[in-house]
Amino acid sequence: MKMSKRVEKLPPYLFVGISRKIAEKKASGEDVVSFAIGDPDVPTPPHIIDRLCEAARQPENHRYPESAGLPELRKSIAYWYQQRFGVSLDSDREVLPLLGSKEGIAHMAFCFVDPGDTVLVPDPGYPVYSVGTLLAGGHPYYMPLLDKNAFLPELDKIPTDVLRKTTLMWLNYPNNPTSAVADIDFFNRIVSFAQKNNIVVCHDGPYSEVAYDGYKPASFLQANDSKTVGVEFHSLSKSYNMTGWRIAMAVGNPTMIEALKRLKSNLDSGIPQAIQYAAIEALTGPQDCIDEHNALYQRRRDLVVDVLNKMGLEARPPQASLYVWARVPNGYTSMEFADDLLEKVNVVVTPGIGYGKHGEGYVRLSLTLNDASLVKGLSRLAEWRDSKNRFKPKV
Ligand SMILES: Cc1ncc(COP(=O)(O)O)c(C=O)c1O
Repeated sequence: MKMSKRVEKLPPYLFVGISRKIAEKKASGEDVVSFAIGDPDVPTPPHIIDRLCEAARQPENHRYPESAGLPELRKSIAYWYQQRFGVSLDSDREVLPLLGSKEGIAHMAFCFVDPGDTVLVPDPGYPVYSVGTLLAGGHPYYMPLLDKNAFLPELDKIPTDVLRKTTLMWLNYPNNPTSAVADIDFFNRIVSFAQKNNIVVCHDGPYSEVAYDGYKPASFLQANDSKTVGVEFHSLSKSYNMTGWRIAMAVGNPTMIEALKRLKSNLDSGIPQAIQYAAIEALTGPQDCIDEHNALYQRRRDLVVDVLNKMGLEARPPQASLYVWARVPNGYTSMEFADDLLEKVNVVVTPGIGYGKHGEGYVRLSLTLNDASLVKGLSRLAEWRDSKNRFKPKV
């Protein structure tokens, strides 16, 4: 069977070895604790589910939805942006609901990338930015996100000949996997950079509501003139524990929104309407769940960072996002370290190399495992540390 070059070119799944080992361990009855997946363990808040069930019983919601989403949903998204960020959006021209942000991110490349075009992609980064680029025939140019630059890209290090071919730039703050944050000054610089180089900007902000110690992440759309150059993706997945319902949005520049809407109306038939009503409830109903979830993650964050530091892994408490980004101990690659933890103490962490070359030297731990698993996982990490100390050569 001949597979398309497009699919053949997709990067191989980097965690094949680890996934196989997890499956083998589970099959032989071993209890594996996973810090790997960023998928909230707490259920969707009850008032959102009630609205979903009520809408699911109404026959008018059993039919094909509109690709552009219910006008009431688009208005709720605009209302939420106004309340949360003070950003005004035209709900007809500047808002597009999505079937989760992953599909919108991948599809955006087909709207602004022709074969041979270059796309600026953060490294380490969420893999879909480069996958969408490759599927559209573009070339990712990886912008290193380094600790010494607070994991922000160095715009003046991008060569002019790269910029000449660049059509689109991806950014993501609060960041997966580094958990770094960006402020409005940074976003203002991005707008000037994009205007100067004639590049469209896609800012991916699914973690804007997951933040700690009272910190409130900024929106790209709060930057001056941001709507002239870009859009922002936001998702209900992490803000309202709705990963399974698949609902998100792109907002901002009307030409970019129109392009994505045109593409998607040819590919999918919109979001099931009952889920759209659940999203309306999430965006316009009580918001207490956000603080409640953040208090829970903050408590877990402090426990995880404490244990990691005691293990000799350098890890700072993140201000936002669901992840702790920790340096691996000397003498290991990220894959070797992850492998060792799995082998010796049945704990899964994500090797940084899976997010790009500059993720090497780090592992990512997610805070979305329930408290009992978290406690078990942390005591196993401590066990790993103790076994190392036992065998450490005396000097
Ligand atoms: C940075 C980033 N963007 C987008 C997504 C996709 O979110 P969803 O498709 O659930 O909206 C994720 C999921 O983990 C993510 O980490």
